[in-house]
Amino acid sequence: MSPLTRLVLVGPPGAGKGTQAKRIAAETGVEHLSTGDILRDEVGRGTPLGGTAKGFMDRGELVPDQVIVDMIGGRIRAADAGFVLDGFPRTVAQAEALDEIGTLDVVISIDLSREEVVARLTARRVCEGCGKIYNLSFRPPADPTTCEACGGRLVQREDDREDVIRNRYDVYERQTAPLVAFYRDRGLLVEIDGRSGSDAVFERIVQVLSA
Ligand code: AP5
Repeated sequence: MSPLTRLVLVGPPGAGKGTQAKRIAAETGVEHLSTGDILRDEVGRGTPLGGTAKGFMDRGELVPDQVIVDMIGGRIRAADAGFVLDGFPRTVAQAEALDEIGTLDVVISIDLSREEVVARLTARRVCEGCGKIYNLSFRPPADPTTCEACGGRLVQREDDREDVIRNRYDVYERQTAPLVAFYRDRGLLVEIDGRSGSDAVFERIVQVLSA
């Protein structure tokens, strides 16, 4: 296993954070912690936290910092084999809260332009059963409605409508992109071009983790 076990993935919506985080977790044994997946699960189960989060998510806005830090802090502390954080932190205030929880080994920034994001996310489908991520344009499954891994139903996320995607990108530029400089200043940042195929991006990540 890589000695680097406390990882963060940063990047605009659709850059491939979830796709890569799943592969990193499978390859290295660290825990994949996605604030977006946790929030969608809370919304799906109709919990009070889901009720708080839903409106923000449907508009493509960020859920308030304290709600997120309270939700994820304990899971990060409990991840004994290490973690790959996908979608957290997303503001400087969240990054400062993460500093209080512990140190990081590396922050990987995956970048992608607004138009590439729109093209990717309008074609994204996710398996309701196992969470596997597909893309109808770039790597379509044999049947666009059925997961090849578990036979589950492939669905479109509610925030993958073009107007919401564009707002999510604006929110990223305004509130999350400053984290790139924040982590570069601390010597933790590695930048990867998200335009290459997902295998090429993963190979680059493996190089980073093996260095
Ligand atoms: P979240 O679920 O984190 O969404 P996001 O950051 O917008 O990221 P996505 O999941 O859309 O994209 P991704 O980068 O994971 O890309 P993927 O791998 O799927 O958050 C959702 C909402 O929750 C937020 O808007 C907010 O409201 C709330 N929230 C979450 N965390 C929060 C926080 N910390 N603070 C406050 N609010 C928070 O890939 C995208 C597509 O591209 C797929 O179809 C995939 O197959 C394809 N693909 C991936 N890589 C490649 C490649 N290299 N080449 C071609 N296709 C590729």
